[in-house]
Amino acid sequence: MQDDRLITSSLREEDVKNEYSLRPHFLSEYIGQDAVKEHMQIYIEAAKSRGESLDHALLYGPPGLGKTTLAGIVANEMGVSLRVTSGPAITHAGDLAALLTNLSPGDVLFIDEIHRLNPNVEEVLYPAMEDFALDIIIGKGPGARSIRLDLPKFTLIGATTRLGMLSSPLRDRFGIKEQLELYSPEDLKEIIIRSADILKIEIDGDGALEIASRSRGTPRIANRLLRRVRDFSQVRGDGVIDVETAQSALNMLKIDELGLDAVDRKMLVAMIEIFKGGPVGLDTIAAYTGEDAGTVEDVYEPYLLKLGFLARTSRGRIVLPDAYRHLDYPVPQQPVQQMKLEV
Ligand SMILES: Nc1ncnc2c1ncn2[C@@H]1O[C@H](COP(=O)(O)OP(=O)(O)O)[C@@H](O)[C@H]1O
Ligand SMILES: [Mg+2]
Repeated sequence: MQDDRLITSSLREEDVKNEYSLRPHFLSEYIGQDAVKEHMQIYIEAAKSRGESLDHALLYGPPGLGKTTLAGIVANEMGVSLRVTSGPAITHAGDLAALLTNLSPGDVLFIDEIHRLNPNVEEVLYPAMEDFALDIIIGKGPGARSIRLDLPKFTLIGATTRLGMLSSPLRDRFGIKEQLELYSPEDLKEIIIRSADILKIEIDGDGALEIASRSRGTPRIANRLLRRVRDFSQVRGDGVIDVETAQSALNMLKIDELGLDAVDRKMLVAMIEIFKGGPVGLDTIAAYTGEDAGTVEDVYEPYLLKLGFLARTSRGRIVLPDAYRHLDYPVPQQPVQQMKLEV
């Protein structure tokens, strides 16, 4: 696994302390994702006016788009506490029981990577979500009996990059399901300007848009690139980020105008030159990039699909004409017909 790609949407060590200060706390500060925001606003207001806890919510989409942030915002807007955990962190049913019994009414329990919950733990979650109850077995063997413990009415917010890996009984128990999409450069520009303001970085609109266009639709990457460009502008420039500074810094970091890095380009070139544009299996692509297949699928591919550089077919990934143009390769004669024959 290559954790050192600057354009990864996964959390890098350098992001940890920065994300805390940059994270919006209320819906009004949460930029973009208009549909999701509108839905959440309505659900929150309705629940508050009825004096009830919010329905359980599932947030899904690629890393770095604001799932954890949104969970925090929901808790703030509802005026309740947030407890944060993750699927792989809850190893035993007892761990989950302890978390649940410590909640206060209305609290938000956030489970990140919820698709990685152990099935035994998931079993405990079902009655907790549905009936706000915990079934506990006391004793062993024939004498064992089950008692039901009431839980406070809480809200579970689950986050996942892989909706397809969630079991359907779990998926069905969420009343609210919201998909987060990659952000437009205009939304990312706004996010960058907001972050620059918090970090006391001087930047103009075109400089912000330049960084935004290279941030792969992902706020986490936008904030990371902003910090890198700031370093560059302090050393090589006058400390103010304009479009030239942003371009020079990002070119130096080998992130091109669309946010592709050397590994993306190497992978696309291999697909074009060696595999004649595909279809190429995910595992082969993973081998060319030095990532595992799951990381390619969750972290790097969504943006290439969104750009229209790659498409998924039943036999693997194919390279689309825009990718040939971007990499200065002649577009093959009848790519569309070829695709149809091969699918
Ligand atoms: N809509 C948004 N508006 C402003 N900043 C955002 C937004 N979404 C995400 N961010 C920024 O991106 C960072 C990563 O978001 P996060 O919620 O951790 O993503 P995820 O949980 O989906 O991986 C946050 O710390 C925050 O600074
Ligand atoms: Mg997260």
